[in-house]
Amino acid sequence: MGQEKIVGKPMLRKEGVAKVCGRARYIDDMTMPGMLHGATVRSSIARGKILGVEFGAGIPWDEFVIVTATDIPGANEIAMINHDWPCLAGEVVNHAEEAILLLAHPDRHLLPKAVAAVHVSCEEWPAVFSIEESERRDPVVWGEDNVFKSFLMEKGDVDAVWTLADRVVEGEYTTGAQEHLYIENNGAIAVYSAEDGLTVWGSLQCPFYVHKSLVKMTGLAEEKVRIVQVETGGAFGGKEDYPSMIGAHAALLAMKSGKPVKIVYDRAEDMAATTKRHPSRVRHRTAVTRDGKLLGAEIEIALDGGAYSTLSSTVLSRATIHAGGPYYWPNIRVRSKAFATNYPPYGAFRGFGAPQSLFAIERHMDHIAEELGIAPDELRRRNFLKPGLETATGQEIREEIDLDHLMGRALAEADYHHKRERFARENAGAESKKKGIGFAAFLHGSGFTGSGEKYLNSLAAMDVTSEGKARVLVSSTEFGQGTNTILCQIAAETLGIDFDAVEMGPPDTSVVPNTGPTVASRTSMVVGKLVHSAAVGLKKTLLASSLLGEGCSTEEFVMAARTYVAQHGALRSESRYEAPPGVHWDDQLYRGEAYAAYAWAVYVAEVTVDQTTWGVTVDDFVAVQEVGRVLNPMLATGQIEGGVAQGIGWALYEKVMWNRGRMGNNQMTNYIIPTSQDIPPIRVFFEERPFGHGAYGAKGIGELPMDGPAPAILNAIAHATGRQFDSVPLLPEDIFRQMAVREPEREVVTL
Ligand code: MOS
Repeated sequence: MGQEKIVGKPMLRKEGVAKVCGRARYIDDMTMPGMLHGATVRSSIARGKILGVEFGAGIPWDEFVIVTATDIPGANEIAMINHDWPCLAGEVVNHAEEAILLLAHPDRHLLPKAVAAVHVSCEEWPAVFSIEESERRDPVVWGEDNVFKSFLMEKGDVDAVWTLADRVVEGEYTTGAQEHLYIENNGAIAVYSAEDGLTVWGSLQCPFYVHKSLVKMTGLAEEKVRIVQVETGGAFGGKEDYPSMIGAHAALLAMKSGKPVKIVYDRAEDMAATTKRHPSRVRHRTAVTRDGKLLGAEIEIALDGGAYSTLSSTVLSRATIHAGGPYYWPNIRVRSKAFATNYPPYGAFRGFGAPQSLFAIERHMDHIAEELGIAPDELRRRNFLKPGLETATGQEIREEIDLDHLMGRALAEADYHHKRERFARENAGAESKKKGIGFAAFLHGSGFTGSGEKYLNSLAAMDVTSEGKARVLVSSTEFGQGTNTILCQIAAETLGIDFDAVEMGPPDTSVVPNTGPTVASRTSMVVGKLVHSAAVGLKKTLLASSLLGEGCSTEEFVMAARTYVAQHGALRSESRYEAPPGVHWDDQLYRGEAYAAYAWAVYVAEVTVDQTTWGVTVDDFVAVQEVGRVLNPMLATGQIEGGVAQGIGWALYEKVMWNRGRMGNNQMTNYIIPTSQDIPPIRVFFEERPFGHGAYGAKGIGELPMDGPAPAILNAIAHATGRQFDSVPLLPEDIFRQMAVREPEREVVTL
C-alpha cells in the first residue's frame, strides 16, 4: 500500500465534466424521429378484480396506441427471483398503482388527460395493510400464501441459555418505508423492428437484469434484445428492479406501434408507483450475564414485502445475517419472514435489509446497557467480534479487525465521553433544549451473500481502441457513486499508464460482458478485482508480443497497443470470477462464509431535542469505518456523507403517508427529506486494512453508511430525553406523543 500512483488518489470523476457542463445526456434528453410518448393507467384500489375498461369522451382515441396484458408476446412477468410480478395486471390487481394499461401518443401533453379519461371498473376486495394483518390472514380464505420467504439461522443451543442468564432483555423495533428520491426519475426509450429486434435505453443499474426480464416478456431470442444504460441521475437500489418494469412497458408500446416510445415518470408517479425500502419489525430477546456478557439471542424479523416478491427474499437474507450485529453470540437463533401485503412491492434500497436489522440490534444494545447499568461502549467492548471468533453463520473472522480500536477512535473524534457526561449534567437544568450523544457499531457484508457471487459467475474484459486507449468492458454502471472513475483507476494503475489513457466501454449488453448487477457493495471489491485481472492479462499479451517492455510510458503503451490492433485486429483480455479460497456456504443450513469480507464502522451522533417543538437537530456526526483500501478518498468520503444524510432522513424525516395502500404524500413538498440545512458537519474517517481478495485491497462501501445513522441518532435522543424511542421515522409528533405519556415499564425479567 502506498506506492501506487493512481489508486488511493482523489482522481476526478470520469463523467464529471460532462455532468457539470450540462453535456451529459439523460434519458429525457434523448429523442428519436417519430417518437411517441407512453403513459401508464394504474389501479386506484389496492386489491380487486378488473371488471372492465371504458375510454371516456373528449379524447381522440384512434390516434393512441393502446396496450393491455393481452398484447404481451411472451410471459406476463417482470422476471426477478420468483415469477409473481406481472408486467400488466390481467384480471386482478394486488396493489394500488399497479399498471393495467399503456397508452402512447406523439403529443406528450395529451397523455395525462387521456390517462384520466380511462375508467377501470373493479370489484374491490379486502386488502392487507400491515405485517400484523398479513400474519393473521388465513391462507385458506385468501387462497394464497402470505409469506414470500422465511429463514432460520441458528448457532449453539439458544433454548439452554435462558436459565443461565442473570437478565433477559426484550425489545421490539420498527422501521418505515423509505423512498429513494434519486434526482432523476425513472425513464426508458424502446425501439423495435422485426429485423433488429428490441433496444431499450434507460436510467438503470443493471443492464443484464433488464435484459433477462425483457427476453422473458417478449419471447425474443437473447441476441435480439439489447439494453443500454444512459447517464443515470442516482439510483440507490431503486433502479435495480423497477427499470425492468418501465423498460417492458416502453417495449410493449414500441412493438405494437412500430415506433420509438419514451416513458419518463414525473416525480409524483415515480414516488407513488415504484419500489421503496421494506418496512420492518424486529423483536429481540437476549440472555445476558450481570457483567454484560451476551449469552444468547432469539431474534424475530418481519419485513413487509408488498404485493409481489421482487427481491424480498434476498433483502430478507441480508437482514437475517446482519441481525446479530458486530458481536460474538455463542448462541443465537434468527427467524425471519417477508410478508405479502397490498402495498406496491418493496424493493432494493441501499443497505438491502441490513439497516432494518442493525437499527434493532443497536437500539437493543443500548437498552441492555441501561438495564445492566453498564456504559454502552463497555457493553459492546465486552462482546465485539474478534479475529478467530465465529459470526452467527459460523464464519470465522480471519480479517485483522479491531473493533475496540475503531470504537475508541470514533468516540475520541466525537469527544463522546466528555460530552456524554456534560450533556447529562446540563440537561438536568435545561428547560428549552436538551442535548444527547449516542453511537452505533455495525458491519456490512461486501458483495452477494453466500454462494451468490459464484452463481453470478461474472465476466469482465478489457480491450484497446484503434487509437490505442485502454477500455474497461463491464456491465457495472455509473449512477453517481463513482464506478467509472474507480474502475479506470484500477485499470490505469495495473497497466502502469495515465488515468486519462483509460476509458469505459459503453454500458450496452451487446458490447460488454455480464459482470453482474451494480448492487450489493460489490463493484469496487468484486468487479474491481476482475478489471485488475483483465488489465494484467492485457499487459501480459503486449509484453509477450515484444511491442512493449516493462516500465513503459503511457505513450509507449498507446503506440504498442495501436500497433498490436493493426497487426492482429483486436487486443482483448477477459477475467472470470473466482471465489477466494476457503469460502463455503450452505444455503440450507444458512451456515458458512456469508460474505468474503465485511466493512466495519462506528458512527457517533450528537443531537439537540427542542422541548417545545420536539424537533430534533443533528449537530455533529462522526463516521469512522474500515472498508479495506480506500481507492479514491474523495469518492469514498462522498459515499459516506451521502449515506449518512440518507440515514438521517430515514431516522428523522421521511415518512410515507399511506391512504388505503396509496402513497398520499408523493411530492417533494410533503415527503420531507433533509436538506443541507438539516445536515450537520459529517466528519468521515477511514481505517484502512487492505483486503487480500479485493482490488488493491478494497472492500464494499456503498451501503455501509446507511446502516449506522438511525440507531446512533435514536441512542442520542434517548440520552437527551431519558426516554426510549424504538421506531423510525421518529417525527416531532411521535416524540411529543411519547413524552406526554408515562414511560411504560420495560420488559425486563430478573431471574
Ligand atoms: Mo442494491 S440496494 O444492492 O442496488
